[in-house]
Amino acid sequence: MNHLPALLDWVEARLGLQMTASNQENVWFAVQTLAKQAHLSPDDYMQQLMYNQCDQEPFIHRVTVHESYFLRSRAQMEYVVKQLIPGFLQRRPGETVRILSIACAQGEEPYSLAMLCKDAGWSASQVEIHGIDLSAECIELARTGCFTRHAVRGVEESFLRRHFIADSSGRFTIQASVRDFVRFEAMHFPRESLSRLLPGYPVIFCQNLLFYLTKPELLRALEELRRLLYPEGWLYLDGASSAFPKTGFCHVHKENVHAFRLAATLPVPVAKPVKAARKWGQEVDQTVGKKSGDQLLHMAWQKFRLKQFPQSDHLFEQVLHEYPALQAKALLGKARIQADEGQQMQAMELAEKALAHQDGQYAALTRMEAAEACAIIALTLHGKGLLPAARSWFALLKQFNPQHPANKLFQESS
Ligand SMILES: C[S@@+](CC[C@H](N)C(=O)[O-])C[C@H]1O[C@@H](n2cnc3c(N)ncnc32)[C@H](O)[C@@H]1O
Repeated sequence: MNHLPALLDWVEARLGLQMTASNQENVWFAVQTLAKQAHLSPDDYMQQLMYNQCDQEPFIHRVTVHESYFLRSRAQMEYVVKQLIPGFLQRRPGETVRILSIACAQGEEPYSLAMLCKDAGWSASQVEIHGIDLSAECIELARTGCFTRHAVRGVEESFLRRHFIADSSGRFTIQASVRDFVRFEAMHFPRESLSRLLPGYPVIFCQNLLFYLTKPELLRALEELRRLLYPEGWLYLDGASSAFPKTGFCHVHKENVHAFRLAATLPVPVAKPVKAARKWGQEVDQTVGKKSGDQLLHMAWQKFRLKQFPQSDHLFEQVLHEYPALQAKALLGKARIQADEGQQMQAMELAEKALAHQDGQYAALTRMEAAEACAIIALTLHGKGLLPAARSWFALLKQFNPQHPANKLFQESS
């Protein structure tokens, strides 16, 4: 009996993770690997897993994406450290600013925040950073505070020297004084956080998680974010997640940084985040909207061609936040950046999201752009050796653009 369909349902129900084509492949890959390690057939392994007769943690770790790196959302973090923390401490002297980093992976995000806090002169008694992640394996790694060169890519040498101890094997270990700011816990957000976390966080980072969730789980997560956020707090989401309807939050854009704050009234219109935010007057940077979405996209692709990926990514993010009708195009741009940076799984996820907009309410991608998204997915699956899945994406790619260069690889490999 093939238990895979039941397992996919189980993953959605148990973890709240949406089963897209790419993570279905991940699930199957994890099953094959772990069944082999346990000397079981894939079916027997799946059955044991679903009936809780084996350790579920290795499976959970394998079916989630843990890509992160230091100073990933530097502009947002610097805004928090230089603008929000001083304001909070001035209003509430003697209190500690609690920052929550949800889906913190191996700790790159909370440690980055801690390093910036340290550089700004804050102490661990003034700022406490709490990192949580579903994967207990990630949390264990986070606690070791030991990272590869890949995790600190793009970070300037002086910053590395201040906050890490580099060893001869190329590993970077966090300085003890940085660790003092941070504590980690493995937990499912939002299911376990509900009973384990107290509300009142003035700052919450929830980046690159929401778009993995099923619709009901997303609604639960938003409710939980509303519960956890301090009434005047700031929530930071990644661009792709910012596009979701978020009843009860309003979008603010200040000093080139996007954030969400609890709205006093419900609901906040979603399709026009800039207009919605304008109702909140002084929070909105009045320069928003000066450039059209098409202009921003054009600039983003120019930066991409010059290989200025952070600048290009920033512009695509801006489009995601401010121009809902252009979200699919911005997601495709972000996918291309990830693909060029060697982050194939992230690229595939974003390409899938860009294509998902095809059936939505907006004129999403042109045929050429849809072909590009299919090529990213097909090439990733092909690279992972998942040939039957790759084949169906190559077929779709050919329908959109028979001249796309990736078709050649398909013909050669079949
Ligand atoms: C792509 S990483 C994001 C890392 C970091 N926030 C960033 O943006 O760089 C996604 C993380 O979400 C975690 N995750 C997935 N589902 C989760 C859940 N329901 N609760 C908490 N963490 C979850 C995964 O284990 C993974 O480490």
